[in-house]
Amino acid sequence: MITDEEVAEFELLVKQLCQDLPEGPGFLEVAKMMITYYNDDPTYTNASSIQNALTNTEIINLTEQQRYSKPLALLQGWVKREMEAATKEHLEGRLRENKFRTGSDLDEYEKAFGPAFNEHLGSLVGRSRWLDAGAGKAVAMRQYLEKGGQAKCLACSFEIPGDALQQVRAAEEKYGEQFRYLQGKYFGNVSDEEFGLREEGSFNLITDLNGVLYYTTTFLEDLKRYLDMLALNGKLCCTHLPGLYLTLSEHKDLSGRFGVRKWLAGITNVSLTVYTTLIGDAYVLTKTGEHNELPATEWKQCYTVEGQNATQTILSCHGPIIGDPTIIKLS
Ligand SMILES: C[S@@+](CC[C@H](N)C(=O)[O-])C[C@H]1O[C@@H](n2cnc3c(N)ncnc32)[C@H](O)[C@@H]1O
Repeated sequence: MITDEEVAEFELLVKQLCQDLPEGPGFLEVAKMMITYYNDDPTYTNASSIQNALTNTEIINLTEQQRYSKPLALLQGWVKREMEAATKEHLEGRLRENKFRTGSDLDEYEKAFGPAFNEHLGSLVGRSRWLDAGAGKAVAMRQYLEKGGQAKCLACSFEIPGDALQQVRAAEEKYGEQFRYLQGKYFGNVSDEEFGLREEGSFNLITDLNGVLYYTTTFLEDLKRYLDMLALNGKLCCTHLPGLYLTLSEHKDLSGRFGVRKWLAGITNVSLTVYTTLIGDAYVLTKTGEHNELPATEWKQCYTVEGQNATQTILSCHGPIIGDPTIIKLS
C-alpha cells in the first residue's frame, strides 16, 4: 500500500511546484486517483499499470512530467517497491505450495547436468563439500550418501516439502556431520556462518536443478554468491533459466539462450561448458581463479507470471563480453 504519509508528502511537493498556476494542480487529482485505485486493490498488475501510466504523456503531459519530475520520481519509487513486494509475496506463496517437482534423483541430476556432473561428483573426497541449492526433498543427495558418497553434503531450500520431512531428518541423524539440510530462508538470507564457510571451507560442487536461480528475485546477487562460495576448480551446475531476459548491447545478434551463454562465459576466472538437451541448456561453470566478476549488468525488472514457474528477470549488459562457452550437445 502507498501510505497516507506518502500521499501527504507527494501532495505537499506537488502543491509547492504549482503555486504559480491559476488553474491549480489537475495533475494531483489524476495522481491521487491512481493511488486510490491501487490501494483499493494492491496487486502487481495494478502497480504495473500505474507505473506505465506515470510515464504515458497522454495521461500526464510532457509539461507536467517536467514540472512534477520530483514528486513523480517519488511516486515511481513507491510503486516499484510495491511491485517488488507483490512479486516476493507471490513467489513465497508458490514456494510454500511446493507444487513443482521436488524429488529429482541422481539419474535426473546427471541427465540435467551432463557427464561433467557425474565425473566431478565421483572425484569428491571426504573433505570435499557439495551444496544442493533449492534441493526440494534432497533425493539425489540422500541417494549419493546411500551409495557411500564421501563428500560432506549440505542441502538448502526455502522449505522442506512436508512429505519428505521425516526422511530428511532421518538422513541427518544417520549421516551426522556428513548431511545437513538448511531450510526456512531465501538463499540470499542464509549467512556464511550457516553455510559453514569459515569452519568447513568453500564448496567443491554446487548444484541448482530448477532451484534458486530459477525462482529468485535477486539473480545477480545469488549467482555471484555461488561463485564466491565455490572452491578453486569447483563446479557450479545449473539448469536452463527460461525466465532470464538479457540484452547485450555489444552482441545484439545473441538473444535468448545464446545471449545467456555468452554472458555466463564472460564471468572472469570461470570456464563455461554448456550441455544442450531437449529441454534446454545446462550450464557447468568451473572456477579457474579467485575474484569472479559478472559482466557489468544493469538489473531492470523482475516479476512473476501466473501459470509460469520461472521468475522473469530482465537484465541489460552494455559492455563488451570476452569469452566463449564450450558447447556439448547431449541430445
Ligand atoms: C522445483 S524445486 C527443485 C527441487 C530439486 N532440485 C529437484 O529437482 O527435485 C525448487 C526448489 O528450490 C527452492 N527455492 C527456490 N528459490 C529459492 C530461494 N530463493 N531460496 C531458497 N530456496 C529456493 C524451493 O524451495 C524448492 O525446494
